Amino acid sequence: MDELERIERDLQRTAPDSELGKELRGRLQSYASPFRELRAYYKCAMMEVETKFRVLNEELSLEYDHNPIETIKSRMKSLDSIADKLISKGLNFTVENVEEHIFDVAGIRVICGFPSDIDALAKAFLRQDDIVLVERKDYISNPKENGYRSLHLIVEVPIFLHDEKKMMKVEVQFRTMAMDWWASLEHKIRYKKDVEVSPEMERELYACAEIAASLDRRMEAINRKLHAEDQKDTDQDQ
Ligand code: GTP
Ligand code: MG
Repeated sequence: MDELERIERDLQRTAPDSELGKELRGRLQSYASPFRELRAYYKCAMMEVETKFRVLNEELSLEYDHNPIETIKSRMKSLDSIADKLISKGLNFTVENVEEHIFDVAGIRVICGFPSDIDALAKAFLRQDDIVLVERKDYISNPKENGYRSLHLIVEVPIFLHDEKKMMKVEVQFRTMAMDWWASLEHKIRYKKDVEVSPEMERELYACAEIAASLDRRMEAINRKLHAEDQKDTDQDQ
């Protein structure tokens, strides 16, 4: 439940029938309505992008002999976090500012088996002619200092409403299972209440990220070798 819903509920509870209560609820509803609309648009954009990945997963599985996607997770940023982010940028909480300055209202995380699945999926996704690339951060080729790996794309995707076409921004994060495992646990550890991560823990976390990356490389190499042998067998049979 977001802050607007909480205020609405509290107003309903504290002043159910009074004139002032009704007036305040009316004002709140007209204030909230553009934000509700905006959230609905982001949800549509998220569904569009998710469907694109489901389609690619089906199609690429025929070519690669395995499903490139293990899981897709989508999440919508809460109005509270959107407001916090705008405030931290020194901006007012308006629909225009959300659309112009917050790029991760709609977020999709695509979890793959092998690093090469990420390459194939990202390429196929960006080739689609209705997708506009806004920003690319490749933390796989250039991991963050703490060891974090993931490919982040901010894209614009059209949604078709009854009377208009609207371009909406969506953040897509591509990770292997190993990258996701590390990032999820690192996030849990880092955001533990009242606990400071010491430099030694930082080094340990970094070392774990490197081990995860090395596992990815080894699994990829095994898979590549198997494919090469499989291909050799097929060539010999022909
Ligand atoms: P924000 O969107 O405000 O976070 O800033 P940014 O756009 O500069 O960040 P970036 O694109 O680098 O990362 C955005 C998202 O990636 C975060 O919200 C996290 O989900 C994820 N992320 C980035 N860095 C880390 C990290 O070091 N550890 C973990 N666990 N996740 C990270
Ligand atoms: Mg971001």
